[in-house]
Amino acid sequence: MISEVKEFKILGDHRGQLVALEANRQIPFEVKRVFYIYGTQPEISRGNHSHYKTKQFLVAVHGSCKVTLDDGVDKEVYDLDRPNLGLFQDALIWGSMHDFSPDCVLMVLANDYYDDKDYIRTYDEFLQEVNR
Ligand code: TYD
Repeated sequence: MISEVKEFKILGDHRGQLVALEANRQIPFEVKRVFYIYGTQPEISRGNHSHYKTKQFLVAVHGSCKVTLDDGVDKEVYDLDRPNLGLFQDALIWGSMHDFSPDCVLMVLANDYYDDKDYIRTYDEFLQEVNR
């Protein structure tokens, strides 16, 4: 198993729903960065890279998408189709996000600041890195 979709408690009442995510609790790291992806064009796949050190946690806070994670041996596809679901993507895991619904807002929490040098952009380089 590469990862698993975590289900968060919905703190709902007659007014509506609320989900709370805390560092080192629901999110397995200290969060230093949040970005979100929306307005994704149909048929588009994003990501398609890995990171040397950066860990990420993905939540489709609106709409739905799928995430494929690949550890260099196995591949698994995860459905993020409710706002109380989240998926951890560890460092040295190849990831892609795809099958976005038109209304999807995918929020990504990361344990570090954006750093272009932390990206592994080719699958060959990724395989070399996981195999050493
Ligand atoms: P990109 O890595 O291409 O997105 P994806 O992996 O989803 O396909 O990022 C698009 C642009 O945004 C690129 O110019 C880098 C920039 N960017 C930041 O400045 N900060 C960030 O945290 C991220 C994720 C991207």
